[in-house]
Amino acid sequence: MGSVTLRNIRKSYGPVEVLHGIDLDVADGEFVVLVGPSGCGKSTLLRSLAGLETISAGDISIDDKVINGLEPKNRDIAMVFQNYALYPHMKVRENMAFSLKLNKVPKDEIESKVAKAAEILSLTAMLDRYPKQLSGGQRQRVAMGRAIVRDPKVFLFDEPLSNLDAKLRVQMRSEIKELHQRLGTTIVYVTHDQIEAMTMADKIVVMKDGHVEQIGAPLDLYDTPANLFVAGFIGSPSMNFMSCTAQGGKAVLSNGQVLGAAPAGLGEGQAFTAGVRPEHFVIGSGALDAPVTLVEPTGAEIQFTVDIAGDHVLITTRDRVTARLGDTLNLSVEPGKLHAFDPETGARLGGV
Ligand SMILES: Nc1ncnc2c1ncn2[C@@H]1O[C@H](COP(=O)(O)OP(=O)(O)OP(=O)(O)O)[C@@H](O)[C@H]1O
Ligand SMILES: [Mg+2]
Repeated sequence: MGSVTLRNIRKSYGPVEVLHGIDLDVADGEFVVLVGPSGCGKSTLLRSLAGLETISAGDISIDDKVINGLEPKNRDIAMVFQNYALYPHMKVRENMAFSLKLNKVPKDEIESKVAKAAEILSLTAMLDRYPKQLSGGQRQRVAMGRAIVRDPKVFLFDEPLSNLDAKLRVQMRSEIKELHQRLGTTIVYVTHDQIEAMTMADKIVVMKDGHVEQIGAPLDLYDTPANLFVAGFIGSPSMNFMSCTAQGGKAVLSNGQVLGAAPAGLGEGQAFTAGVRPEHFVIGSGALDAPVTLVEPTGAEIQFTVDIAGDHVLITTRDRVTARLGDTLNLSVEPGKLHAFDPETGARLGGV
């Protein structure tokens, strides 16, 4: 078992509070990703869970047992950091065995645990190499091996892939996800990369400025973001935002053009921020004429930047649309894909 419960976690450094009462439930075996911009408190929360930081208030429980006072080594948690610093003078097998040796685990047990972890991570053939004889991805796997041999209730990962190049990141992303499916262990994983969060998580926690903005399954956050911040943060390229007014059931732009149907529940004349994802525009059918200001073919799709009521709006399409700079695209928004947010608070007002 390895469920984790955080209740009203607060953390201050001196007079400055950086976590403002975080609540989170992680089910046994769940893969939870904490995501948010730099400085939002992801690492602080993870380190608090590991016992490397002392929290100022709140309760941390594993399997319903409060562990606030426990030393890191007694928490049954293993952490993998961005800077996974392997011991350079030790072979892979010694690196992986190190913590078990410190804990005076019998030698044959160490050997079988290291062999099993190496097998899982495809490192068996490399056990007698030194770290400098490995690629970046292999080193990262050794760092994971050090965590796996401890057979913890919970794995914590803090940006473990950020030192790797783009291609290796994608590969390791799949490997970690596969590893989770094989081991079934609870994972709390920190990243600032929303694609990593979307592709890996069972559940995403979006953080900003020491607060939780929204918790949910990846596609739930994508389809129904709770506020402007989550709407803009999740999804790449980002959702477009435009100022609108609800008039006769339509979302009317500041220049009087109609963007689409206004979501139900808005009052007549109510001002709101409309959100439309780039892939939710339909080209060639609609009342909205928008001049093209930039064309960027990526191969799989074409990205058009258009001017809608003075805003730059990004549109993606998989069709081979031939429009060029200066042409006008005739647009509509897919039915039900227009999000509405409160322009003052950013809270979701409706849509989809
Ligand atoms: N030891 C410390 N003393 C004072 N302030 C700190 C300390 N460690 C972190 N902070 C502050 O706490 C806030 C949260 O930091 P944290 O490292 O948790 O952010 P993060 O979300 O992990 O960011 P990043 O994506 O850049 O790693 C930041 O404003 C940071 O400046
Ligand atoms: Mg961090």
